[in-house]
Amino acid sequence: MSQLVRAKISALGTYVPPRLLTNDDLEKMVETTNQWILERTGIRERHVVDKGVATSDLAVEAAKQALAQRGLSPTDLEAIILGTVTPDMFFPSTACLVQHKLGAKGVWGFDVSAACSAFIYALQAGAQFIATGAHKKVMVIGADTMSSVIDYTDRATCVIFGDGAGAVILEPADDDSLGLIDFLHEVDGSGACALYMPGGGSLNPSTHETVDKKMHYVHQDGQAVFKFAVRKQTELCEKILEKNGLKGSDIDAFIPHQANKRIITATADRLGLRPEAVIINIDRFGNTTAGTIPLAMETARQEGKLKKGDLVLLASVGAGFTVGATLLRWAF
Ligand code: UT7
Repeated sequence: MSQLVRAKISALGTYVPPRLLTNDDLEKMVETTNQWILERTGIRERHVVDKGVATSDLAVEAAKQALAQRGLSPTDLEAIILGTVTPDMFFPSTACLVQHKLGAKGVWGFDVSAACSAFIYALQAGAQFIATGAHKKVMVIGADTMSSVIDYTDRATCVIFGDGAGAVILEPADDDSLGLIDFLHEVDGSGACALYMPGGGSLNPSTHETVDKKMHYVHQDGQAVFKFAVRKQTELCEKILEKNGLKGSDIDAFIPHQANKRIITATADRLGLRPEAVIINIDRFGNTTAGTIPLAMETARQEGKLKKGDLVLLASVGAGFTVGATLLRWAF
């Protein structure tokens, strides 16, 4: 087998819908307070779509931004890999809809279902096509319209989630010191019932009864997910650092999934990360599932915390359970 090529991220685009849903708004919808939401989650506001706007629309806006940043046209792409848990519909895949809306003629693609870990799982899938030399330009998108699967009468879930998307372009790294270095992913399906949407699939096809029972909404055992997230995210991050001869203090930017500010800080403390290296934007976006990590990459860039050559650790935990850690050097 010929030598594998390292993949690098060469562009980043993000998009959130303009409409804001603030904690004050939620106080009027369910029995909650701004103080509870802020203290227990770190969230102040999140963005939500207007009726008729779907995941592919958010994805396309993020994709266009990434293409413009790199000066590429949609037909320069070879594949689109899209992570989402809220596809426009069961089929066709949202990657197909994005391909068509972008006008990316001749490009192939598919969706990845891994909830909050979908972006980094899709990133790794894309990196393999670059590594083998099969492709030179792969677009990886994380996009979710969580407001479409949230019960806005359930205070335990409706305060957490928001809508958003991010897209990156993967290309071969000409400079071998930059790009994706390593990854460590793990799934544990024993956690399936801690965070899931029971209705609408082949097990419980949609009926009046499944709708009456609110089975088309997100159901979560918050405490179970919280405990698993802190333990497992830390474990995978520790392992990937150790495997690469690194310490927490070597990381320039820690870009974790943003599900709860307390999960992020607990992980960061256990890893011994420098506080200024920990990227947090949950206050402005909430948990946007697959959109979260690229949105947090953009926050890091805007805060001047993501420069060429920086050592970056991405981490995620999501429904499944799915867990992931990715180590890379930022390349632009
Ligand atoms: O991205 C996917 C991964 N998801 C996650 O990582 C989520 C992980 N879990 C969490 O972030 C937290 O568990 C939550 C934010 C979901 C909940 O926070 P918590 O501190 O674990 O609260 P809890 O579920 O233990 O509930 C504590 C109390 C309960 O009241 P009682 O029984 O003590 O009277 C809840 O009913 O807080 C109550 N509560 C609320 N009160 C005001 C739950 N939600 C709310 C709310 N406003 N929105």
